Amino acid sequence: MIDDLFANVSPKSLAASPNARIDELVELLQRYGHAYHVLDAPIVPDAEYDRLYRELEALERAHPSLKRADSPTTRVGGAILSEFPEVVHKVPMLSLENAMTLDDAVDFDRKVRELLDEVDVVYSVEPKMDGLAMSLRYENGILVQAATRGDGTTGEDVIENVKTIRAIPLKLSGEFPAVLEVRGEVYMPRAGFDAYNAKMRASGGKELVNPRNAAAGSMRQLDSKLCAERPLSFYSYGLGEHSAPLAATHSATLQVLKSFGFPVYEGVGTAVGAKGLLSYFEKIGQKRASLPFDIDGVVYKVDRLDWQAELGFVSRAPRWAVAHKFPPEEMMTRLLAIDLQVGRTGAITPVARLEPVFVGGVTVSNTTLHNFDEIARKDIRVGDLVVVRRAGDVIPEIPRVILEHRPSDSQPTAVPSACPCCGSALNKQGEEAVWRCTQGFACKDQLKAGLRHFAARRAMDIEGLGDEIIDQLVDRNLVSNQADVYALKLSQLAGLERMAEKSARNVMEAIERSRASTLERVLFAIGIRDVGESTAKTLTRHFGSMDAIAAADLAGLQAVPDVGPVVASRLYEYFRDEAALAMIAALKANGVQWSEGAPMQKIEGVLTGKTVVLTGSLSSMTRDVAQAKLEQLGAKLSDSVSKKTSVLIAGEKAGSKLAKANELGIEVWDEAKMLTLFEQHLQGS
Ligand code: IVH
Repeated sequence: MIDDLFANVSPKSLAASPNARIDELVELLQRYGHAYHVLDAPIVPDAEYDRLYRELEALERAHPSLKRADSPTTRVGGAILSEFPEVVHKVPMLSLENAMTLDDAVDFDRKVRELLDEVDVVYSVEPKMDGLAMSLRYENGILVQAATRGDGTTGEDVIENVKTIRAIPLKLSGEFPAVLEVRGEVYMPRAGFDAYNAKMRASGGKELVNPRNAAAGSMRQLDSKLCAERPLSFYSYGLGEHSAPLAATHSATLQVLKSFGFPVYEGVGTAVGAKGLLSYFEKIGQKRASLPFDIDGVVYKVDRLDWQAELGFVSRAPRWAVAHKFPPEEMMTRLLAIDLQVGRTGAITPVARLEPVFVGGVTVSNTTLHNFDEIARKDIRVGDLVVVRRAGDVIPEIPRVILEHRPSDSQPTAVPSACPCCGSALNKQGEEAVWRCTQGFACKDQLKAGLRHFAARRAMDIEGLGDEIIDQLVDRNLVSNQADVYALKLSQLAGLERMAEKSARNVMEAIERSRASTLERVLFAIGIRDVGESTAKTLTRHFGSMDAIAAADLAGLQAVPDVGPVVASRLYEYFRDEAALAMIAALKANGVQWSEGAPMQKIEGVLTGKTVVLTGSLSSMTRDVAQAKLEQLGAKLSDSVSKKTSVLIAGEKAGSKLAKANELGIEVWDEAKMLTLFEQHLQGS
C-alpha cells in the first residue's frame, strides 16, 4: 500500500503526455488532500504536496484546455459573481424541532416509540454543528451544485465558494449513485477562527464575530477568492435527492458517505432509548469545551430509514429527529436605557440598551424587552444589573434582574403615553400585551419599518434600498407608501446624503428589476398584519389572483388551509381599506407586475368529508405530493389513526398505524388504489 502510494510520487513521472501527468497529479493531490483535510492523517509532508501542486499549476497554465473541473487548483477561488443563482431543492431542507430540557428529550423518545409501536428504538446520535446547512449535489460523482438552505424550498447556489473548502470532495470515490445530494454543515473550526482574527488584528482588517457568522458570511461572498481565505470545513449529516438508496439506516448511510470521501464526525454513534440519548448528551456536553468546533447541542435521529418514512414530518420538521440544545449561557450587565421602537404595524417595542457584554459567542449591546407587561412582570428598571442569556443563534433575552444590586433611587418603568415618533396616543386591544400607534403610515417610523419590510430580500428584494436610504426618503417626504418607491427618480436618490451617483443608479436598477414579481411576494411585501410568507403562498395557491383575494368574504378566506378567523379578518379589513386599495392600484400603475394564475381546483365529492391518514413510504410520489392531491379531492388529512379515520392509505413497510386501522376495522387502501383514484379524478392536474 505504502509502496503503491509512493510509486507515483517520483518527480520524474513516467507519464508521457501532459494530459496523463495532469490526471496523475490531480488524483494524487486529491488523495493527499483527503488524507490531510478529511482523515486528519497526512501521508506526505506539506512540502511534497506543494511541489506537486506547483507542477500541476504550471501544466495547467501551459495547457489551459486540459484543466480538469475537479482539479485542486480550482480551490483558490477566482470566479466573481454578481449574484447567486436560485436553487429549488428537490427534497426540501427541513429544520429540527428543539428539545430544551432532559424531559423534552425523554418525551421525544416516548412519542417515537408510541407512534412506531416499538419497545426499543435505536437512534443515530450526532453533535449539532453550529454553522451553515449546505446541500452538495454530485452528478456522476462530480460536484455540480452547492445550495444553501434559504427558506427550505429555495436556496442559492454558492458552488464557487464551496469549492474552496478543502474537506469537500470535488469528485467522489467508490460506487456512488449517479445523482447524490449530500447535506451537512459548513463550519469554521475554532483554531482557524482564532488564527484568522489574529491575522486581521495585526493587519488592521475586519475581525469575524463568531465561527457561525463567519461560516455564513463567507458563503455570501460574491468573490470566491475572499471565501478561499476563510478557514472553513464541513461535516456531512444526511442526504437530499439520491438516485439509489445507500443503506437501510442513517448511521450506515453516514459510513457509506465516508467511503465516498465525505468528512463524517468520528463522534457520531448510535444509542438505544431515552437512557442512551441522555448519556450521549452528557458525554458530548463534557467534551464540548475541548471540541475543535462550536456545537450548540446534539441531534437524535431514528436510525432505521423505513421508520423515518413511517414517522414522516410535521410542517417544517421531521418527527423522527430532534435537536437537544445545551442550556443557554448567562452573563450580567447594566441596563443603560430603554428605547422605544415603532414597528410596521405600529407595535411599540421596548428595547434594552445594555453595557456591552460578551455572551454565547457574541457581544450584546441591545435586545428586545418584548412589551410592557413583560417589563412589569420582571420589574425591569433602567440602572438595574440584569442577566443576559443567549443560546446559539437565538435573540438574547433578559430573564431577570439582580435585585440586590438595584440602585436606591430606581424608578419603575412606566408605560409610554404617546408614540415616540408621531406623538399620537397609544392604543391596546383586549388581551393583547402590545401598545400600538394607530396612525398607520402617517407615522414616519411605521412607514420606515413598512418600507424596510417591503424592500427585504424575501419580499420585493430591492437590493441597496437599505435603512439609511429609507430613513432619508421618508424624512424628506419623498415617499408616503410602498408604491411611491416605484415613482422615485434618479435625481431624487442621487440627492440623498452619502449617496454617490453610481449607488443611486444601482438602487434604481434594483427597483426596476423588482417590478417583475409574483403574487405571493407582493402579498407578503405589502405587509398585511399576520400574513407571512407561507400564508401568502397558500393564499396564492388557493385564489390565484389579487382580485379574487380582495373579493373574498370572511367565510371564503377561512376556507383556506391555515387561515383562521384572525388572519381572515385582517385580510378582509385590509382589502376594504381605501388607502390600501389605492396603494395596490398605484403599484400596478407604477409598473409592478405580478403573476396571476388560476386557483387550485378543488374537486368536490370524491373525498369530501373523509379523514384520510397516510402511512408507510410511497414509491410513485412523495408524501407531500400525495397529500396535496388528496386534499385537492377534498380529503382532510390526519396524522393518527382513530375511530374518526375514514381511510388509511398504507404504503410500503406500513407499521403500527396499519395494525391499528385493522384493529378498528377501518378501510385500508394500498398505493395502487390511491393512484387509480388520482387518475380517475385528477386528469391533467
Ligand atoms: S439534520 C431533517 N443533523 O441544524 C433534518 N442538522 O435546525 C435536517 N445541524 O439546518 C437537519 N448539525 O444546519 C442535522 N447533525 C446534524 C446537524 C444539523 C447541525 C443544523 C442544520 C439544520 C439545523 C436544523
